[in-house]
Amino acid sequence: MAANADTVFESGALAEPRAPVDSHAIADLAQRAERLNQTIRDRATHPNHRKTLRKFVGTEVADLLDLKVETLYRRLDRHPTLPQGITPNPRRRDFTLQEIYALRKAFDLPPKRAPGQRGLVVSICNFKGGVAKTTTAAHLAQYLVMHGYRVLLVDLDAQASLTQLFGILPHTEVGDEQTVRTFLEGPNFRGEPSPQWTGDLRYVVQETHWANLDLIPSNLGVYGAEFAIAARLRDEDGFAFYRPLSEGLAPLRNDYDVIILDTAPSLSFVNSNAMFAADGLLITLPPAMIDLQSSSLFFELVAELMENFNRTEASPKTYDFASVLLTRVKPKDKTHAQISKWIRQYFPQETCSQTVVQSSALEKVGPDLMTLYEVDDYDGDRRTLERAIEAMNSANGEVELLIRQSLEARAEASSRATVALSSERDKDP
Ligand SMILES: Nc1ncnc2c1ncn2[C@@H]1O[C@H](COP(=O)(O)OP(=O)(O)O)[C@@H](O)[C@H]1O
Ligand SMILES: [Mg+2]
Repeated sequence: MAANADTVFESGALAEPRAPVDSHAIADLAQRAERLNQTIRDRATHPNHRKTLRKFVGTEVADLLDLKVETLYRRLDRHPTLPQGITPNPRRRDFTLQEIYALRKAFDLPPKRAPGQRGLVVSICNFKGGVAKTTTAAHLAQYLVMHGYRVLLVDLDAQASLTQLFGILPHTEVGDEQTVRTFLEGPNFRGEPSPQWTGDLRYVVQETHWANLDLIPSNLGVYGAEFAIAARLRDEDGFAFYRPLSEGLAPLRNDYDVIILDTAPSLSFVNSNAMFAADGLLITLPPAMIDLQSSSLFFELVAELMENFNRTEASPKTYDFASVLLTRVKPKDKTHAQISKWIRQYFPQETCSQTVVQSSALEKVGPDLMTLYEVDDYDGDRRTLERAIEAMNSANGEVELLIRQSLEARAEASSRATVALSSERDKDP
């Protein structure tokens, strides 16, 4: 080490005085970083700056529709008006996601939404960064869409990683008024009526390259919503700081089966809104000491926040589920194994039995702004990718079950309420 330092010193590298780093220099760094982001995005979205989705091969389609591939092809032969896929070579038959959706409908396959059933809001949360919240939000959303759900993803993090994963540059391609920001400012922010105010968040929903998967993007401006909500708390009588997001999403529950919130790693006003809007919590947690330690603070703060809601709300806040998903698990790491064991011991009901392993496939496709489900040509051992997808599917399948149980329980409760209401009405003379 010492020899190295000496060499550097002798070479004169340290003797050279550095120019002081002023704000212009940092601003220049910002510009270069933004140019780099753009280059990466353009590389991933060649040629029209829009991401496109790969096609799905016949065996995959059969799997998604829960059919044997022979059964699928036989049915398609019998019904030539159904999407037949295209055959790039005699051994392969490719379908688009829209075609899979059309087949699902034609074959009358579940999941079917009960009439009048409202979508479920799931918040992916943890007040720590780097715990795979965004990765989980994107993969879960895409998994649900492939299985026939209509999904809305809401990027609530000013860092906008989720938005970038969909091939959108937050800084240059998303205006503040295209995020939740303007809506959270309210109809009369700082005494001025807001021209964009429509009472709900539909106006900021964008379609994505995934059919049936829409996105409310984010940018740095979402951070400004913190100050806006603080100002409203000061200026508006009886303003419940945690309510706007839930109210803005309420009508969208008629448009989607599941609304997934990707949250920021902080206890912010925006996150309090996510906590109130959510029907279910999925807490992503790597089995590492540092993440485990911060989780006790997370649960404590959420409990406090819920108490806060309960002081003003008519009925106490509850969640249909608050489940822990172990993420970034290194299967061969002894410490990970030990901590996973402890977590399962202390949260036996809450911890999902499936885990998401740390996968080199995910690391590899990161620079291409891809999820595992989007990869077409994998630059490596295809089996590594397949194993990673399989693990991701198992974890997502377990979360889907939580969601489905919750949707079914809600449908049942609302049909019981309808029956009770109509029998009340029948009693009226
Ligand atoms: N299972 C995994 N295998 C490999 N890398 C992962 C995995 N899950 C997440 N990562 C990587 O970890 C980093 C942080 O993940 P991210 O989803 O952005 O976390 P968060 O949203 O909680 O900050 C990202 O670079 C992501 O690609
Ligand atoms: Mg994130």
